[in-house]
Amino acid sequence: MLLSALALLLASSPVFVDAFPAYATRYAGPRNDDTRKPIQRRTAVPYSPQFPYTGATLNGAAGTGVGGVQVPAPGDYAHYYEDPLPGAQRGPCPGLNALANHGFLSRDGITTYTEMVAALQNVYNADFSVAVALTMLGFVLDGDPVSETMSIGGSVPLVTGKPGEFTGEYGGVSMHGTFELDVSLTRNDYYLNGDSHSFNGTLFGMMVETAKSTSSAENPLFDFNAMALYRSQQYERARVENPWLYFPQLALHNYGAATFLFNAFPSSAKNYTPDLETISSFFGAVELPNGSWGHVGERTPPNWQNRVAPLNLTEVSTGITELYAAYPKPYGANVDGVWVPLNSTSLSALRKRQSASDPNGILCGAYDEIIEHAEAAPQPLAMLQFVVEKANPVFGPVGCELFTMP
Ligand SMILES: *[C@@H]1O[C@H](CO)[C@@H](O)[C@H](O)[C@H]1NC(C)=O
Ligand SMILES: *[C@@H]1O[C@H](CO)[C@@H](O)[C@H](O)[C@H]1NC(C)=O
Ligand SMILES: *[C@@H]1O[C@H](CO)[C@@H](O)[C@H](O)[C@H]1NC(C)=O
Ligand SMILES: *[C@@H]1O[C@H](CO)[C@@H](O)[C@H](O)[C@H]1NC(C)=O
Repeated sequence: MLLSALALLLASSPVFVDAFPAYATRYAGPRNDDTRKPIQRRTAVPYSPQFPYTGATLNGAAGTGVGGVQVPAPGDYAHYYEDPLPGAQRGPCPGLNALANHGFLSRDGITTYTEMVAALQNVYNADFSVAVALTMLGFVLDGDPVSETMSIGGSVPLVTGKPGEFTGEYGGVSMHGTFELDVSLTRNDYYLNGDSHSFNGTLFGMMVETAKSTSSAENPLFDFNAMALYRSQQYERARVENPWLYFPQLALHNYGAATFLFNAFPSSAKNYTPDLETISSFFGAVELPNGSWGHVGERTPPNWQNRVAPLNLTEVSTGITELYAAYPKPYGANVDGVWVPLNSTSLSALRKRQSASDPNGILCGAYDEIIEHAEAAPQPLAMLQFVVEKANPVFGPVGCELFTMP
């Protein structure tokens, strides 16, 4: 176990870009500064009919939703794990990093709308509406609607933008205050050292200790009970340790991310057990000889199979609500160490709609949230047009009140 962990660490040696002729070179376009230089980029490999996964391809459409599929499929070398190349973007979300490390998203970490919608379906068996909702949320917060690309890591607008067009300084998933918020599972609050995207082994170790306390020391499980308690503990710690903590209602997204540990990562081949082998593999956590946790590339565990039934928005929404309700925390912010409560923002109306008995309330609530964030994008109309094009065909037929372009 220990040896294999060390072997993984050693395997993380850099690979040269030249070894990948599939890279396309393009230019960021003319600009009178020193940033003009060739950009190495390659896209995710198209799906082979030999390895269909849940049937989604790079056309933005729905797959079959039939899971229980081994990922990567034996022999599908295009989707085997590879270390990220030097300069590749990786960010705070282990689930997205794993997708890029397996080539379901472009391995350079600059992904597209269609790569993301297909990957979420094929790898995690997210149903089509979850895949579209999560992808759109990512885009309205951090992506470029004109080139339809998004960095899963840092802000690199010259790379994500269309050649020669500068439509906005889009964040990338690492951008603090967007998808990336305070009180996450294994990433620092931004205030600590300005790095809220890198894996922190101390935090992972704390999460393991919590899981041991709610299940057993021999076989810690990252189930509902563990994640609810750990989120509570991290909140209380941040309230004391982060004098500029910001915990708005938007922080509910972090509860959503926590549900992935027991809803999306456990293997159907292992009776959906959210055990340490599974979770450490997705987080890229390896136990070192002195008991601390190091980091390697995130990947699917050996012989991993995705969920048999697709993950739907009801499950995601219920997971968020129940996880939060287990240890409810006031929304608010520390302002130089002084706690200022924040009453529910306009998002509360959306949550109300999401919890309505009407099953489409959840879907339409997600749609409303997407529209709300699109309106705050650097170029709101470009973003709204993008949402109208991609999300309206999915959310219209279920009866959501749709935004239309003025
Ligand atoms: C990891 O998190 C702990 C707890 O917040 C913190 O004390 C430590 O400085 C962090 N480590 C790094 C390398 O940022
Ligand atoms: C544990 O070992 C790692 C790797 O050798 C080292 O970087 C880290 O500082 C050590 N941690 C402690 C607490 O000794
Ligand atoms: C969502 O998934 C759960 C678990 O598989 C299932 O019981 C439920 O019927 C699904 N709901 C919808 C609206 O598809
Ligand atoms: C928050 O809500 C409470 C109770 O409804 C109210 O008394 C208080 O003034 C509100 N605070 C702010 C900052 O809006």
